[in-house]
Amino acid sequence: MTYNSQHNFEWKVSQRKHTLGDPIEPPRPSLRVGVLISGSGSNLQALIDAIETSQLPGVEIALVVSNNAQAQGVQRAFKHMLPTIYLPWGKIGGAQFTADQRGGMSPDEKKLTSLLQLFQVDLIVLAGWMRILSAPFLAQFPWQVINLHPALLPDDGTGHIYTTQDGTQIPVFRGLHAVRQALQAGVKVTGSTVHYVTPEVDAGPVICREELAIEPADTEESLHERLKQIEHRLIIEAVRICQERA
Ligand code: GRF
Repeated sequence: MTYNSQHNFEWKVSQRKHTLGDPIEPPRPSLRVGVLISGSGSNLQALIDAIETSQLPGVEIALVVSNNAQAQGVQRAFKHMLPTIYLPWGKIGGAQFTADQRGGMSPDEKKLTSLLQLFQVDLIVLAGWMRILSAPFLAQFPWQVINLHPALLPDDGTGHIYTTQDGTQIPVFRGLHAVRQALQAGVKVTGSTVHYVTPEVDAGPVICREELAIEPADTEESLHERLKQIEHRLIIEAVRICQERA
């Protein structure tokens, strides 16, 4: 912009011609992501790397929360100077993996809510977060909480049968040790899913997923490692989809 002698503003307009097929894409809406972790944080790392290599324009990690101070993911977050908070998570009725069934939010969920609001988080990514979130907590963030699950879920998330791409019907493995469950069931194909989180565990609508053939020599560790390689792509795709839908 220049300021001329008549005290009028004169706007400099770009001379670049817009033509059909112009490679300039409209800017994507900004999306502030909160990542909740409990362990190694390799999926957090995949998001960090995607952002740092401009694969997710408009996306930033606004906050990392870990319920485990020793989690490797905390070190990953520190290394990239991300706002990172250790939030100890109390046991509910002696159990670590269940939500408060008494109808309200637990004190820890109230703290987590305040943190997510303070850091103005638009999308909450459960990336290896090993705690169940209650219905009242989730109701505050409709279609804003997504989870990675190392097994195949049907499109709407519910039901007990998944039909693979080759038409084979396999059981749906939910909850803890889903990789082990698939191996023990003797299925030939498993996979990973990113889905919206609903109060019923591992039963929300699917955002994206990918199948993976189980090798005869697979152990729980080798299979989970290969699933994580898939997840590192899926989580980027899922965040991009959520950004488009926001
Ligand atoms: C992933 O396999 C995810 O599906 C499951 O927990 C694991 C987290 O891995 N919910 P990481 O901490 O991101 O390495």
